[in-house]
Amino acid sequence: MAQWDSLWIDGHLATMVPGTAAYGAIRDGALAVQDGRIAWLGPRRELPGEPARCAATVHSLGGGWLTPGLIDCHTHLVFAGSRVHEFEARHGSHGSQGYEDAARQGGGILATVAATRGASPATLMAGARTRLQALLAGGVTTVEVKSGYGLDLDTERRLLQVARALGRETGMGIRCTFLGAHALPAGYAGRPDDYISFLCDTVLPALAAEGLVDAVDAFHERIGFSTAQVERLFARARELGLPVKLHADQLSEGGGAQLAARCGALSADHLEYSSEAGAAALAAAGSVAVLLPGAFHTLGETRVPPIDAFRRHGVPMAIATDCNPGSSPALSLPLMMNFACLRFGLTPGECLAGVTRCAARALGLGDRGTLAPGQRADLAAWDIGTPAELSYWLGYHPLRQAVIGGRPVTLH
Ligand code: NIG
Ligand code: FE
Repeated sequence: MAQWDSLWIDGHLATMVPGTAAYGAIRDGALAVQDGRIAWLGPRRELPGEPARCAATVHSLGGGWLTPGLIDCHTHLVFAGSRVHEFEARHGSHGSQGYEDAARQGGGILATVAATRGASPATLMAGARTRLQALLAGGVTTVEVKSGYGLDLDTERRLLQVARALGRETGMGIRCTFLGAHALPAGYAGRPDDYISFLCDTVLPALAAEGLVDAVDAFHERIGFSTAQVERLFARARELGLPVKLHADQLSEGGGAQLAARCGALSADHLEYSSEAGAAALAAAGSVAVLLPGAFHTLGETRVPPIDAFRRHGVPMAIATDCNPGSSPALSLPLMMNFACLRFGLTPGECLAGVTRCAARALGLGDRGTLAPGQRADLAAWDIGTPAELSYWLGYHPLRQAVIGGRPVTLH
């Protein structure tokens, strides 16, 4: 009589549980799943019987490695239109236009807002579905999706509804973050405080009541929102019982990390211009530093986040794609691991923790991110000889199988 629904054998487990072994590795391991959760794992020799008698279905890892399904904890996945003309302008032969210049001239985020407001739910769904499938092909099973290209009640709702619908359709874990404070819409030009009031009084409470919001984010920047404006929005989030996250210190040092820490944020994201004091504040608050090397790369940034300070203070570091049409058209989380390794100096071990255990924490999710009994059976099986290989390839995904809630998924 089979004890479990399914079993993975013939390979090694990178459990990512902190401890003595690198990657929390169990060599020649076995992992059993029951009812969508991990029921047992350990060395294969400790299985209670022959594999075929232990589980209804037995999967071979082919000598490779099993990791937790990867978690992309910062994306702007749902949008319409393209910003490739801005890319072309930045890299033209007649001088280059900067990212902030484009934003100040009404392009940038607002160009995507215009395209997104005019798009039907079906169009938004089709674009986001294609991008989600690309992430899945890189071993991603959970994705955070931000709104922020609507900036009005109806369009912000549509973006979050599309994200929720994609979660139902694909079975992937989708976390919805409200980013109404992403840019100032034209109708509120010169009146940012009124726009924040509109978000606090109308948009956020309505969308929260509809169950569309898992967390609240804001763009704290000289081309975004001020400290006082973010504090007001986050106070409203707290009243509604919602956790917060912050786009912080991306383009300039503005005390964003300290602001995120003061607000008890799950994470502060970007952080190129953060200081030692910012790192200390994040550590004290237990906030995760989310590194976004795709935006660093795309914007030609040269200032690297204070990685050594994060290490010394014990700030967990996550890595995400920041997939968006402006600053990071990135659809490979393993490529972001490579960038974090080569451009920011993370070790391959820190990179894998950054897209599993630490990314789960950046989303406040305690049920995934490691291989351990009771965790969701969201898994990625890889044809690799060592977990470091996941940070090594540039744009190639040696994925053998992705598993969501115990079920292998078909890759398109
Ligand atoms: O994370 N910084 C603000 N938001 C995005 C960029 C969005 C855009 O340019 O469309 C980011 O980099
Ligand atoms: Fe972002």
